[in-house]
Order: sequence, then structure tokens, then C-alpha cells
Amino acid sequence: MATALIVLAAGQGTRMNSDLPKVLHELGGVPLFAHALASGQTLEPERTVLVVGHGAEAVAKAAHEIDPDIAIADQTEQLGTGHAVAQARLALEGFEGDVFVLYGDTPFIRAETLEAMEIAREEGNAVVVLGFEAEDPGRYGRLVMKGHDLTRIVEFKDATEDELDITLCNSGVICVDSTVLFDLLDAVSNENASGEYYLTDIVEIARSRGLSATAVTCPEDETLGINSRAELADAEALFQDMARGEALENGVTLVAPETVFFAFDTVIGRDVVIEPNVIFGPGVTVETGARIRAFSHLEGTHVGGEAVVGPYARLRPGAELDAGAKVGNFVEIKNAQVGHGAKVNHLTYIGDATIGEGANIGAGTVTCNYNGFEKFHTEIGANAFIGSDTMLVAPVTVGAGAITGSGSVITRDVPADALALGRAQQVVKDGAAPRLFELYKRNKENRKKGE
Ligand code: UD1
Ligand code: CA
Repeated sequence: MATALIVLAAGQGTRMNSDLPKVLHELGGVPLFAHALASGQTLEPERTVLVVGHGAEAVAKAAHEIDPDIAIADQTEQLGTGHAVAQARLALEGFEGDVFVLYGDTPFIRAETLEAMEIAREEGNAVVVLGFEAEDPGRYGRLVMKGHDLTRIVEFKDATEDELDITLCNSGVICVDSTVLFDLLDAVSNENASGEYYLTDIVEIARSRGLSATAVTCPEDETLGINSRAELADAEALFQDMARGEALENGVTLVAPETVFFAFDTVIGRDVVIEPNVIFGPGVTVETGARIRAFSHLEGTHVGGEAVVGPYARLRPGAELDAGAKVGNFVEIKNAQVGHGAKVNHLTYIGDATIGEGANIGAGTVTCNYNGFEKFHTEIGANAFIGSDTMLVAPVTVGAGAITGSGSVITRDVPADALALGRAQQVVKDGAAPRLFELYKRNKENRKKGE
């Protein structure tokens, strides 16, 4: 069955107390709504519609950075979840199949849960709602069941005393045939305690038309929605817990799991060892057998197998370490390839560069890649030896097997196998040191007398 996805993200998120739209706050290094989108993508939807309202432009921009094909539906006034879904009608014109509605602020819905809903649809239920047994049903909508049939969803504000005793609650996730969905929405009114168009009302309307509805359930954790910074922090903790568990399960050693932070898309190979206090930003892949030593920070980076990173290394977007490369303490690498077995071990900045295999980059080396206006490339050939404290003023090439003397400022290309020295000649004056010390001592005494 063809599927389409609607993600609701128009709400203001007042309790975030923020200028940023709620769904743009980050969880696992990506905007909150990207999690719901990713859950939905496991259904391989033909179309995806994001309903935006508060901060519409910014949210739409962020969505298009993730996937340029996402359709954006504007809900200029937030008149309720039913009204929000109705805004997707145009974007779904001509689509036939199942529509799933997810919330942009609800990040943990699992693919398996959506599959279970799909199965319930295939069994002939016109409307399938995702419910959960709530520990504290609080202000959630309640699912009124009759055996396996869902007869209606009643919102907290509209519920009777008896209905409030129901602990089976509405997660907000719903699956309906597309044509049926928009027909039902046409019949939804806003005559209720909130004066809103409730998406939840489609259940009772479907039933009155002889259509069947049912609920599929999942653990409460999965339906966790984010409304405040405290809830966002709790969700981040939960996300990290799950990511750590998954890494351990996949054969990654975490020496102190609670101190390692993953991003949404971090990929770590088997037998990688991650020491304490390591942070992964978005876009990192680490291949089998690599070691990420303590206090390293990585984003947008590929680390080859058996490579060693850190301690205290910073790998920024575009850093590509080939297998067996070594990047040591207080080294920053950005948009640069470090060849197989090459070493950049101490106190170095490598930006916009290519380092050939087996090259050795001495302590304190800097690729001077930026003149305040433009960035330039540095090329270092295989097995070259860059002496400590070399300034490589880009654009510049050091050929394979070449050597630069320590302290050199390299402004011109160095041919393969050449030795380049770009530093002042050393002068030695025999016996001059004691005379100099004597001079310093006298100067100090004279200054004291003068005071
Ligand atoms: C909704 C459900 C409730 C369920 C709860 C689960 C309805 C009427 N109620 O209540 O049964 O238990 O979620 O969390 O559906 N949104 C829009 N446009 C709007 C209104 C909402 O995009 O006009 C979005 C919000 O940004 C949010 C989601 O829809 O992501 C849910 O809205 P919210 O106001 O939080 O609904 P609840 O009152 O919590
Ligand atoms: Ca809510």
C-alpha cells in the first residue's frame, strides 16, 4: 500500500520560552522534527508534508536542508490538530493510499510501531490510532474502547469523570486512508471545550459512517512529546542512553558510556574503542578497529579503520582520515584528507589540505589557509616530513618525500625529495652569554637605585 506522511509542526511551543520554533531545538544534534521525519521515512512514503506555522520560514528551510522534496503546508492560524492536517490536502492531491500523521515534537516513535499500525490498516480498519497505557494520563486524550474497537477519542477537557479514569491514551499518531481522511475532516467542527478542530474527532465520525477504528499500542516512552526545556533535556538523556546501548550492542567499546555523546546519525564500526568524554556532532562515521581517545570532538568526519584520534583532538566537517592515520592531542583538522598511516600528532592546525600517505606532520605545524577573504589549499605528498613549527602558506605544495626544516615559513612549492628551509640563519657568538647576563644584572640594579 502506498503511504504518505504528514508531520505537524505548526505549534508555538510557548513553554520552551524561546525565540526559536520548538521543532528547531536540537535533539541528538539535529532539529527535533527530523526525528519524526526519519521514523516516517521508514514507511518509504511517496510524499511527505510538513505542516508549519510558528517560525514557518525557518522550519521550512531546515526541512529542505534535510530533504528538498518535502512539501510544506502553511497553517497560518493554529486552530487545532484537525485543522493542521487539513492544510496538507493540497499537497496530497491525487495521492491514493494510507496517510500517517506524526507530531514534529514527538521524536521516539519506532519503525516497528508504524509497521504494526500498517498491519492493523491492512486488516480492514479505516482508522488506526496509536495509543499507550499512561502512568499518569493527565491531560492526554483518552481512547474509549469497546473490545478491539475504538469508539471515540475524548479530549481531557471534554471528558466525563468516568472517561477520565481511562488510562489508555492517545499518542497523536494516526493512520487513515487519504480520501477517507479528508472526507472525515470536512465533518469536524470546533464545538468543544477548546474551540479547536480536533483531529481526534474523526474516529467518532468514521464510526457514525459505519467505518471501523482500532488502536495499536506502544510503550509510553515512545510517545514522549517535548513541550519544555526540561523535557528536551530528559529526551536528550533518553536519546543518548539508547544510542549508547545500540553502540555497545553493535560491538563498540565505551569505557565510560555515560560520558560519550552521539548524534542522530553517528555510525561506529565494530571493535572501535571510545574512551571517556568524547562528543560526536552530526555526520560522523568511524570504521572498524579505530580508537577515539579521551576528550575528542568530531563532526562531519570520516575516520578510517585502525586510525587513532586524540586525546584532545578536534575533527571538523570534511576531515577524512584514511586507515591507520594518527591525529593526536590539540590537533584541529578541517576539510582535509589525512592519508593512510600519516601522522599529525601534536598541536597542529590542518585546514583545506591533502596529506599523502605516510607523511609526518611535526608539532605546531599550521596550514595558513585563509587570507581574510579566501581559503586556499595545501598539498603534502606521500612520506613528506614537515618539520615542527612549519607555517605552510597556502596555496602551496610540498612534494612527496620532501622535508621542511623546523620553524620554516613555506611560501613557495617544494619539489619532491627536496629540503626546504625558510627561516633566519643562526648566529653563534662564543662566550657572549656571561657578558649579557652581567649587563642585565647591572641594568636591574641601576633601575632600583633610581627608584
Ligand atoms: C493532542 C491530542 C491528544 C493527545 C496529545 C498527545 C488532539 C485534539 N489532541 O493534544 O488526544 O493525547 O496530542 O500529545 O489532537 N499542532 C499544529 N497545529 C495546530 C495544533 C497543533 O501543528 O493547530 C501540532 C503541535 O505543534 C503539536 C501537535 O500538533 O506538535 C499536537 O498539538 P498539541 O497542541 O500539543 O495537542 P495536545 O493538546 O497535546
Ligand atoms: Ca502536546
